[in-house]
Amino acid sequence: MKREPIIAIDGPSGAGKSTLSGLLARRFGYIHIDTGAMYRCVAVAAQRDGLDPSDEAALAQICSHLEISFVRSNDDQRVLLNRKDVSEAIRTPEISLLTSRISAHPRVRAAMVFLQRQMGAGGGVVLEGRDIGTVVFPDAEVKFFLEASARERGRRRFEELQAKGLEVDLETTIAEVKARDAADRNRTHAPLIPAEDAVIIDSTQLEISEVLEQMAAVAQQRRRAAGLPIRSDGDRP
Ligand code: DC
Repeated sequence: MKREPIIAIDGPSGAGKSTLSGLLARRFGYIHIDTGAMYRCVAVAAQRDGLDPSDEAALAQICSHLEISFVRSNDDQRVLLNRKDVSEAIRTPEISLLTSRISAHPRVRAAMVFLQRQMGAGGGVVLEGRDIGTVVFPDAEVKFFLEASARERGRRRFEELQAKGLEVDLETTIAEVKARDAADRNRTHAPLIPAEDAVIIDSTQLEISEVLEQMAAVAQQRRRAAGLPIRSDGDRP
């Protein structure tokens, strides 16, 4: 039997990956794997253990003991680290910066890529990250690269953090987004770049619903081309 596709969604932070991955997964009844949340879990664990973020061997060592899982609760997806809900703890600005540093280590990446391949191999999944279409699943049937201007992405992140009750400043948030971008795009291992066969969507001027319809149409067309049966939920115009 043909399996459902792997949908890879890459792009910088604040481009709408999380929202759109969640919506697309729900539309097709797929599993949603937030790979950024997995790297964030490593950062939380490293901070709790008081590890030096430049100590690659120690970081790689804790990766082998981490149990990371995603569970759906109502409309929300929760992130569990060793069965404890860390959904909020992984999203602080401090953890964001720390994650950017530790995710540059090849051995940390190798451990996470191994887990991601295990989780996604069966298809019927939406994986979001930075290197899904280039490294984790270069043969993914559907690949997207989401973009938006740094200013717009900073503004979105600012609103998100503010809504969570965190004390944040707009210009500082924009500067942090730019700093993380530079680190993610310029690192030696698995830098953030679009796969050659990715569909690139710039969402700066678009509503979420417009981007979602574009993505769903591409995914549906690939499913049809592969001879997969029509799914009523995924076949909306
Ligand atoms: O998507 P996010 O903002 O939650 O990602 C957090 C950090 O993890 C970000 O600095 C980039 C890094 N990351 C990565 O290197 N590779 C991935 N596949 C996903 C995230």
